Amino acid sequence: KDIYAPGRVNSAGVEFGDAKALAAFLAEVGKGPAGFPASARPLVGGRAMRGAIRSVTSPVDGAVVGAVEEADAAVVKAAFDRAAEGFKTWSRTPASTRAEALERLADALEAERGMVCALLAREAGKTLDDGVAEVREAVDFCRYYAQEARRHFGEGLAMPGPTGEENRLTLRGRGTIVCISPWNFPLAIFLGQVAAALAAGNAVIAKSAEQTPLVAAAAVALAHRAGIPADVLALVPGDGRVGALLVGEPRVAGVAFTGSTEVAWKINQQLAVKRGPIVPLIAETGGINAMIVDATALPEQVSDDVVMSAFRSAGQRCSALRLLCLQEDVAERMLEMIRGAAAELKIGDPADPATHVGPVIDEEAKARLEAVVEKARAEGRLVWQASLPSGAPAGLFVAPAIIRVARPEDLTEEVFGPVLHVTTWKAGRLAELTEAIAGNGTGLTLGIHSRIDQVVEEVVARLSHGNVYVNRNMIGAVVGTQPFGGSALSGTGPKAGGPHYLPRFALEQVVTVNT
Ligand code: SER
Repeated sequence: KDIYAPGRVNSAGVEFGDAKALAAFLAEVGKGPAGFPASARPLVGGRAMRGAIRSVTSPVDGAVVGAVEEADAAVVKAAFDRAAEGFKTWSRTPASTRAEALERLADALEAERGMVCALLAREAGKTLDDGVAEVREAVDFCRYYAQEARRHFGEGLAMPGPTGEENRLTLRGRGTIVCISPWNFPLAIFLGQVAAALAAGNAVIAKSAEQTPLVAAAAVALAHRAGIPADVLALVPGDGRVGALLVGEPRVAGVAFTGSTEVAWKINQQLAVKRGPIVPLIAETGGINAMIVDATALPEQVSDDVVMSAFRSAGQRCSALRLLCLQEDVAERMLEMIRGAAAELKIGDPADPATHVGPVIDEEAKARLEAVVEKARAEGRLVWQASLPSGAPAGLFVAPAIIRVARPEDLTEEVFGPVLHVTTWKAGRLAELTEAIAGNGTGLTLGIHSRIDQVVEEVVARLSHGNVYVNRNMIGAVVGTQPFGGSALSGTGPKAGGPHYLPRFALEQVVTVNT
């Protein structure tokens, strides 16, 4: 009875170990992304608009996979004009009708899963199992927010009051919400933001990430086909300049942003000086995510969970493990096991179902990560690096690496890729360790491996990270089960996939009637 909204079923996955299920899935993937647009254009009021054209290349092999036309000031203005029109009707559409449209979108995504995974592998370099997980997450967001819309946006709440008076509190859409999403979850985060804003009765202008406009265009096409009105959802591909145009528009009623802390600050500043309504920013950024391991932890489990958390998805998750803190007494033994497990990772073509680690997203990311590894090598701090398989495709692959730092404080930046930093701590110094971890100012995910309840309680009490994982890996938060998002430099909250998310996209109104 204490469980919030039980009984909802999340989207099913693919059992890669089941030969028949895998073959059926690969047949779906094998049809390729053919059913989807090979180009992404600004889409406003259902009309494709023109913009500066650019090729989209695959991180797997550098091949051109499509073209994108980028939005400009005229597109942004048109998008706000159309959204204002769309909002008039959508905001008065019953929440249950909005929810049904999102549920049809969820069904469509499941039906097109193979093709979406093919596109995610080509455009974003996602492995097939990451692709399946991403489609599931997107589907779950649509269904979860549909359910939450019915719950929060129906009749509202009757409030107590004196005899002869009726008081009712209701929620309604704010207006036009700008959604700005990252390349690392080009489907799930893109659609999660959009679905939440739509469920709450808003019109949406969604900016896709520069690197992944095609997945976004496919998602928007499916949304419109599922019955989301053309005026209510616009797609504006582009870089940070387009984001700045959107955020600076006086008519923006709220911003949902996932990306770097740096950009979140800029958006916050821009909203602060803009003349117009005072509107919310929902920001979800990254973190220098730590895992604390003490001497009672189970070594095999630690090693599996570290490899999964630090290297799967090529470390390109905001939740990924960045700083492993091993208790000194067991550090060397644990590290040896972790290296052994990490050496088993298969690096290569993300479209091969056996691959664990695909490419990083672009040249810039590759150069940045390689520079970190080279500096560590020069300073004698490189503990281990995998070797890339011979004959690996000439793509943007970075071999997973482990780097030593003397103290937790020495890692001052989120290194976004398959590069793990490791440090040690002395028994009895848990308080100092948690202080050092808190000191980096981020607060997204935190891992604890210990079989002592008091240690777990102590760490949880001392650190206010948004998602804490005890004796398991620390990635892949499940919608409605592990509402996701951090605090401080890691974001504003509320948590995506949680019960408090939708109301942030809404206005509250109380109507008091003297009966
Ligand atoms: N929601 C994702 C995860 O939990 C974000 O990286 O891994």
